[in-house]
Amino acid sequence: MRTRILLPLVLLFVIRASVSAQNTTVTLLVSDTAGPQISRFIYGQFAEHLGRCVYEGLWKKDTFRMDVVDALKKIKIPILRWPGGCFADQYHWRDGVGPRDKRKKTVNTQWGMVVDNNSFGTHEFLELCRLLGCEPYISANVGTGTPEEMENWLEYLNYPGESTLADLRRQNGHNEPFNVTFWGVGNESWGCGGYFTPEYYAEVYRRYSRFASRRFNGQPMKLIACGPEADDNAWTEGVMKNILYRNTWGIGLHYYCGAYGDTIESSATHFGEYGYSRDMRSCLRIEELINKHLTIMDKYDQQKKVNLVVDEWGISTDVEPGTPPEFHYQQSSLRDGLIAATTLNIFNNHADRIKMANLAQIVNVVQALVLTQGDKMLLTPTYHVFDMYKVHQDAHSLVLKFNSPDYVYGKNKIPAINASASRDSLGAVHISLVNVDANRALTIRTSLEGLPSKSIGGQILTSAKVNDINSFDQPNNIHLADFKGARKEGNELVVMLPAHSVVMLELK
Ligand code: AHR
Repeated sequence: MRTRILLPLVLLFVIRASVSAQNTTVTLLVSDTAGPQISRFIYGQFAEHLGRCVYEGLWKKDTFRMDVVDALKKIKIPILRWPGGCFADQYHWRDGVGPRDKRKKTVNTQWGMVVDNNSFGTHEFLELCRLLGCEPYISANVGTGTPEEMENWLEYLNYPGESTLADLRRQNGHNEPFNVTFWGVGNESWGCGGYFTPEYYAEVYRRYSRFASRRFNGQPMKLIACGPEADDNAWTEGVMKNILYRNTWGIGLHYYCGAYGDTIESSATHFGEYGYSRDMRSCLRIEELINKHLTIMDKYDQQKKVNLVVDEWGISTDVEPGTPPEFHYQQSSLRDGLIAATTLNIFNNHADRIKMANLAQIVNVVQALVLTQGDKMLLTPTYHVFDMYKVHQDAHSLVLKFNSPDYVYGKNKIPAINASASRDSLGAVHISLVNVDANRALTIRTSLEGLPSKSIGGQILTSAKVNDINSFDQPNNIHLADFKGARKEGNELVVMLPAHSVVMLELK
């Protein structure tokens, strides 16, 4: 991800409030045949030693921020990636274990040259995962590390018997093995992780994977190779051609949408309809990237053993005025909630091959779920989307068919509606609908044939303007509300979808 420089704010026009419902009706067909299961890991998160994400956001004065942790528990985070990001390729795990007052102080050369006192290390991360009830996903250091260092980390964490490293874990307070299964082998090795070529990375990956796939606890490890940024197809080709699939659970993809190369309307909050439509269009581009990378992956791995892992995604905007650019602290508007919902719909619809994704990042960095200021905290619209969408975790996807009208602003022409649906283990059907049109409400009609319909409810996330935010003064400005816009008409369901809104329908 490029570092964005704060641009002088230009006064931009405010998007006009939504006009009342017009007559455009979209017919939606919901298949009653269950598709692939939507892996809960698609709803994963990412915490890096970057700016105020770990320190201040999750961990303060040598203790967890329980206000933040309690809020995060509610959205059922399934997996958390750590310690980076770019930071992972400078992180040496031994600096962060043992008595806290004896830990090294190291300079975070990647993010702002700040001193990391290493008070948040491996045990603290795994305790956080325990508190959240989620799986850990650790990115190991390839850039400045060695296969030996990674193998030792695995032994330290996972070996149940007596060895010097397993005994050190016990001495540091954890008798039982942690059984960490998901491991990233380097991060953005084409860039901040070491400027590798894909062929060289693939060779290095093969060597790492030999030692990192050791089953210290008898279980196979799930290794994730560094994938491309956006449309770097040559990276995917070079890596897929040369790695060993038997040692690879997944390959990553990083994609940040937003105002790349465009210096106007790149603020997180001060943007007009030009910036809004451009950013929604760049969000939708992720589907094209997913399809491209899957095509390349399948060319080499015809049995489709390697999963696609979108282990960094989100919108990157200018940082908040007055904050260091290298801390990537940005506000988060309703627009970002629409981006999250749209992206999650795309992931749900590719659940056959996408088995994990991680939003960047969990607190105070890029498209955060939670923002903090001193002892205050707020939940962003993106948090509310993850709260709504948690019903899709591990449910079976359902195929949807519809023709969306276009939302057009200048050169930006995109489908106004995107959607996904699933049936959970109790038979309830959830349909998530996003209307990205900044101005126009739409009507959706769907047959209830084959769908449960004794009780029809739902939730909605919207606001008067797409650049509305939750601020520390008004933290509940944007919140989830009961959705009243669905009604039964004979054997049909009719849904009034307001402009710029996300609706989760629940059919039981
Ligand atoms: O999420 C912030 C940074 O963006 C990550 O450290 C890096 O992997 C990406 O470029």
